[in-house]
Amino acid sequence: MIEFKELENGFEYIEVKNGAACGKIALQGGHLFHFARNGEEPILWLSDTSDFKIGTAIRGGVPICWPSFGMNNPDLPQHGFARVGMWKLENSKEIDANTTQITLVLNDTQESLGMWNYKFELELKITISDKLTMELTTTNLDEKPFKLTQALHTYFQISDISNITIKGLSGKPYLDALTNKVCQQNGDITFEQEVDCVYQEVDNKILLVDKNRTITIQNKGSSSVVVWNPWIQKCKRMSAIENDAYKEFVCIESANAYDDFKILLPHAKHTLKAVIY
Ligand code: BG6
Repeated sequence: MIEFKELENGFEYIEVKNGAACGKIALQGGHLFHFARNGEEPILWLSDTSDFKIGTAIRGGVPICWPSFGMNNPDLPQHGFARVGMWKLENSKEIDANTTQITLVLNDTQESLGMWNYKFELELKITISDKLTMELTTTNLDEKPFKLTQALHTYFQISDISNITIKGLSGKPYLDALTNKVCQQNGDITFEQEVDCVYQEVDNKILLVDKNRTITIQNKGSSSVVVWNPWIQKCKRMSAIENDAYKEFVCIESANAYDDFKILLPHAKHTLKAVIY
């Protein structure tokens, strides 16, 4: 079932329910803010105090960082503008009883051209089934090439930050965004402090191992993965988040960031894909 819903303040979203899972996608930001398999705890974390209002990114779910990750392009706002842009629903399909596909599109506007002078089409295909699949395709509709950095900035719900281990990144080089140093990951990742690392050369599955479940993340069209948890002090400084919410989530972001940028020639396309199960 696909239903169009609207909050009292006019904030629009699409609710998907099928035999396997349910999901909720806001038109602002093309932002998936809920995904759960039927009868199970949500896979995505959503802040209890997140604003659902026009012009502000939702805190949680999967913000779309585009056309710039973080401050990779210092002329743009942090994480670009797609996460607050107004997307259009292009297509919705009930493929079978357990699989629903929603396709949203964002195009350049006067406002985007003012910030970033390129014509583009950005398409996000979200498939809700027993797996979550997100495919973000950028097409350069301009006559000049552009540089792209981006991320599917997935917030994963966890039992507690002290219970989790991230596997699959041992041996990979990473940029530690807190110290600006390039290091090499030695072993699995656990959390005892703020972590903000951009892993490079990632071509394998990543596992998020929690007390009672393991989530697998498989990326395509990407060789960078961002692992982030704000910990105590940064969480206090951040918007739309409770002080101790850092215990409830970890971000593992499927990215094209830093050295893993893409140059798109006129009319070229690039797809960043993440499958989560
Ligand atoms: C992560 C960055 O991707 O996003 C962090 O690595 C940043 O440095 C985080 O704090 C959240 O960003 P924002 O803009 O949503 O608060």
